[in-house]
Amino acid sequence: MSSELSPIDKAKFVCAKRAAQFVENGMRVGLGTGSTAAWLVRCLGERVRDEGLHITGVPTSTRTAELAREVGIDVITLDAAKRLDLTIDGADEFDGAFNLIKGGGGALLHEKVVATSSDRMIVIADVGKEVETLGAFPLPIEVIPFGLQTTHALVDETLVSMDVLGRDSSLRMDGDKPFVTDEGNHIIDLHLKRIGDARQLAMTLNQLPGVVENGLLIDICDTVVLGFGDGKVEVRDINDGTVASERMVFAESDNLFSDLSD
Ligand code: 5RP
Repeated sequence: MSSELSPIDKAKFVCAKRAAQFVENGMRVGLGTGSTAAWLVRCLGERVRDEGLHITGVPTSTRTAELAREVGIDVITLDAAKRLDLTIDGADEFDGAFNLIKGGGGALLHEKVVATSSDRMIVIADVGKEVETLGAFPLPIEVIPFGLQTTHALVDETLVSMDVLGRDSSLRMDGDKPFVTDEGNHIIDLHLKRIGDARQLAMTLNQLPGVVENGLLIDICDTVVLGFGDGKVEVRDINDGTVASERMVFAESDNLFSDLSD
């Protein structure tokens, strides 16, 4: 399989595979959304099948829920699980303080709720997701359909006084219609280029009527498992300040990903 994968897909696969090793029998696990998280779900499915690992998963989107069921993971709601032991999810960007931009896949609201309900959050990311300062990736915010244009105008007005480099914004589309989230809301992407004060921006955006949530996750992520195209992974932990490096082996059995279409 390894020869068929692009370096970026290899990077996503190895960090997901390494992160799956953090999951222990009996854990309640938040399952992220996106292409890297989909590798994770497949890796966990493999452990369920091959090792008899028993876990319950709380998916952050309908597509992750479908995949989790498909690979044999028991799926429950967040309210049934209550507190989660661990959430593993991808990210669009992370900085040196492990602050994140999420929501490229449109699941930021559920992702944020699930991550904050967890004792530990592990982010799985290919090396291209690491940034010095957040903001090159457009910051998604989830807004309710009622008064969409009014809320959009209010967001634009608010950005004028924020410490950011760019102030363009766009309604995310799905073909010729606004993209609709699992909660029936829409997404506005903020093209900020550089976010000077992520904490202040996150708080300000969430105070605007019509804005449900923003894709900035501040002080939530504990560990980043970073994947490289040559199979190397780095496990970085913000709480104990450690960085451990190792190399993952691509095995023939890893072709369980060959039909992945996320
Ligand atoms: C979905 C997300 C994803 O975690 C993020 O977009 C990264 O996706 P990928 O792993 O496909 O690069 O936040 O809402």
